[in-house]
Amino acid sequence: MTESLPVRIFPDRTAASRTLAEEVAALVRSINDSGRPAVLGLATGRTPLPFYAELTRLHREGKLSFARVVTFNLDEYLGLPGNHPESYRAFMQKELFGHVDIPVENIHIPDGMVGPAELEAHCAAYEEAIRAAGGIDFQLLGIGRTGHIGFNEPGSPRESRTRRVELDPITRQDAAPAFGGLEHVPEYAISMGCGTILEARRIALLAWGSAKAGIVREALTGPVTDQVSASFLQDHADATFYLDSEAGAEL
Ligand code: F6R
Repeated sequence: MTESLPVRIFPDRTAASRTLAEEVAALVRSINDSGRPAVLGLATGRTPLPFYAELTRLHREGKLSFARVVTFNLDEYLGLPGNHPESYRAFMQKELFGHVDIPVENIHIPDGMVGPAELEAHCAAYEEAIRAAGGIDFQLLGIGRTGHIGFNEPGSPRESRTRRVELDPITRQDAAPAFGGLEHVPEYAISMGCGTILEARRIALLAWGSAKAGIVREALTGPVTDQVSASFLQDHADATFYLDSEAGAEL
């Protein structure tokens, strides 16, 4: 089958993550050498865990500093305070930020506790902060079983921006074990929009395991449609899929 954007298939997720981490470290160094901070868009979930482990290793070995790195996370659950163990703020602290030298003021994650009256202004300020930082140099993505990137569930427009989104029932089901039951999974989140994500200068989508093989094939070889927001990446100038052999098995 013909894919419409570059796909790199690795024997396993560790090999893929090691390669990408080295590429991102080189990108950060070259942007820092040019005299400005590097702006990274980050994802949460199970997929980026080996990638964050590799970034942490590079930092420990003295090969990567986050002193001049600015980050923007894709999303956060609405209704969860930052100290809730399932909040994406807690996740990032545990898996990456707590192990590297990033200045706390360089970290941006939507606030899951923002009230309804402030929500729109909070989302607009998030977009403005990305613009003020000079835009995203590198965006990391996973893919949900619904084809979502960020929490842009089916029906999310190509031009969508950071906003409140309703989680798809499949997405909530996938999160249920971590929350100890479906009834504890938030129904809403704040997510960067498809338009926000697509403005990143370089994008890497990671997917591991056979459960992702079908949606990876759809995103790469199916029509570009708001029913599979990852399919919008087909029209991006510098997006690459990093897969393990199982996630790439249907290509
Ligand atoms: C996470 C995010 C989501 C996940 C996707 C895959 O910040 O925005 O799009 O990347 O749901 O989740 P995992 O990696 O847990 O399979």
